[in-house]
Amino acid sequence: MPTNADELHNFLRTRRSIRRFQPDPSTGSGQRPIADEVIARILETANHAPSAHNLQPWRFVVPPTSVGRTRLAQALTASLRADMTRAGASESEIEKRVAVSLRRIADAPVIILLCRDRSAVRAETPEEQIMSIQSTAAAGTVLLLAAHAEGLGASWVCWPLYAQEATRAALDLPETWDPQAMFFVGWAAGS
Ligand SMILES: Cc1cc2nc3c(=O)[nH]c(=O)nc-3n(C[C@H](O)[C@H](O)[C@H](O)COP(=O)(O)O)c2cc1C
Repeated sequence: MPTNADELHNFLRTRRSIRRFQPDPSTGSGQRPIADEVIARILETANHAPSAHNLQPWRFVVPPTSVGRTRLAQALTASLRADMTRAGASESEIEKRVAVSLRRIADAPVIILLCRDRSAVRAETPEEQIMSIQSTAAAGTVLLLAAHAEGLGASWVCWPLYAQEATRAALDLPETWDPQAMFFVGWAAGS
């Protein structure tokens, strides 16, 4: 861990988006597990991000690996299918993209959804709305760095932004929570 400014800068500069994760070493398949307390520590650190008026409008959701994750995957791929169909993509192109998305979701050891709570805003002006989204993004950045601090890899994934309503419904989220992004977190197997 960094003990001086040079090391800290080096730590900050060596974070990379990680999109492939190690399998469970005991079976050679599945995913190498991450202790719950490590994820809790990452989220606690992300909660220290700066925010406009210190309103901390971000909300993190870790879908349970079975039902919640399946419902999330279905919601995201249904939106992807609809968007690609509207854009005139061929059936084979759509199925290829859907398969890649499903595989990335299934292979992610932990998924953390990042939402912006619309009720945590000072005023309905465009500027306040933008600052609230900027604050949420700041928490996402700190989350990536906190994962890096644990020696974990992570990547920011924008898909829920394209499927806000479906994601909210899939995970039974409050109506004021707007999904902004999700993070795949795990032990890096490469980028
Ligand atoms: C707002 C935002 C959205 C992103 N969306 C995706 C995404 O959907 N899929 C993905 O693989 N990476 C996504 N990324 C990661 C970027 O591709 C990545 O940060 C960039 O290429 C720089 O690489 P680095 O993170 O390794 O420095 C996103 C990053 C940000 C900040």
